[in-house]
Amino acid sequence: MGKFCMQIRLCSTLLLALSFVHCIDQDPVAVEDWFKGLATMQQKLTKLHFYFHDVVSGNSPTAMTVAKPSGYTSLTGFGNMVMADDVLTAGPESNSTVVGRAQGMYASASMDDLGFLMTMNLAFTDGDVNGSTLSLFGRNPVLHEYREMSIVGGSGVFRMARGIATAKTYSSNLLGDAIVEYHIMVSHY
Ligand SMILES: *[C@@H]1O[C@H](CO)[C@@H](O)[C@H](O)[C@H]1NC(C)=O
Ligand SMILES: *[C@@H]1O[C@H](CO)[C@@H](O)[C@H](O)[C@H]1NC(C)=O
Repeated sequence: MGKFCMQIRLCSTLLLALSFVHCIDQDPVAVEDWFKGLATMQQKLTKLHFYFHDVVSGNSPTAMTVAKPSGYTSLTGFGNMVMADDVLTAGPESNSTVVGRAQGMYASASMDDLGFLMTMNLAFTDGDVNGSTLSLFGRNPVLHEYREMSIVGGSGVFRMARGIATAKTYSSNLLGDAIVEYHIMVSHY
């Protein structure tokens, strides 16, 4: 039932936004047909730009520590794992249009410098990518100006996606909250 609704949702949104895009049927048989047609499909390039709001402080944080090593502390917070459901917006302001959520984990994976393992799904809720996701995986040395991470897959309009995410901190505060600008280039079918 849920999947059926999703299918209708994707179809109607796409038909409104891009009438030339075919409906995305999530039925397993339809997925198999889609897969078999891959060889004749054109690769598409999509560019995305949004701001990621990592809120760890205050009354309504969207990212929280879920595990820490016991009996070990380091300046880099090695071993700390954070689960996030961070809002993605079109502009940097917190009241800017919401375009999706970044749902997943980041964890301090470096003992000597600040480097996070990022493993997140970017779940889009706006425009012609509403209902589609991209899977982000990579190393995030947060003090560097630009951090390049991989887009390793996707769903919906982003099936078979591969690409590059570039993160750059827009602002941060002493409480650990950060607004991060993301540019994504992705190829998909
Ligand atoms: C967003 O907040 C700023 C103040 O921080 C305000 O000037 C602006 O009008 C707000 N925009 C919307 C769309 O509410
Ligand atoms: C995204 O899709 C959902 C489910 O169909 C719908 O409720 C929502 O209004 C859509 N959002 C936008 C911004 O189009």
